[in-house]
Amino acid sequence: AKVAVLISGTGTNMAALLYAAKAEACPYELVLVASNNPDAAGLALANAEGIATWAHPHKGMDRNAFDALVDERLRAAGADYVALAGYMRILSDDFVARWAGRMLNIHPSLLPKYKGLHTHQHAIDAGDAYGGCSIHIVTPALDDGPVLAQTEVAIAPGDTAESLARRVQFAEHQLYPATLAAFVTRERNPDYLLGRVRELAM
Ligand code: GRF
Repeated sequence: AKVAVLISGTGTNMAALLYAAKAEACPYELVLVASNNPDAAGLALANAEGIATWAHPHKGMDRNAFDALVDERLRAAGADYVALAGYMRILSDDFVARWAGRMLNIHPSLLPKYKGLHTHQHAIDAGDAYGGCSIHIVTPALDDGPVLAQTEVAIAPGDTAESLARRVQFAEHQLYPATLAAFVTRERNPDYLLGRVRELAM
């Protein structure tokens, strides 16, 4: 399967997806890393690894027009799937509709808890025993689509949002490639991923 990754920043999850794709048995390949931020650090990394990149600043552009531009690039790259990885833009309904069922996002909380920002601080403030991360199918509402997989990360005494975030990142970097691989092969592995792919994504 051909996957395009959308990033806005560091791109460590994109890097995890990229390196996992180097394994012989990996059922997906990255065909494009695209960004609304030409300075996104992940672009240089993708370039160095020989993955096509595209970036265009969204500033001053209408959301629909910008998303149409992104969509055009994804299609030109031959993408079958889109993986959002720290893409800090709300997507237009048209864009989401166009990629319905073929676009995943990673979010640093145990959804449905703590959508949006500051997830780790919310989990600590609430006295939760676990933070974590989730992979979900993207639907028009923010961080709201069907959850495909999650990893729980124990909150330790004295944890700060930063220390918890660091451990959740390790979990993210394992979970995203594994989930994406399972997702693109879901017809062969219908019971993988909490056994939920059949019910949620087929
Ligand atoms: C990750 O924590 C992800 O869950 C969230 O944004 C962050 C992106 O980090 N959506 P990186 O750019 O992949 O390092």
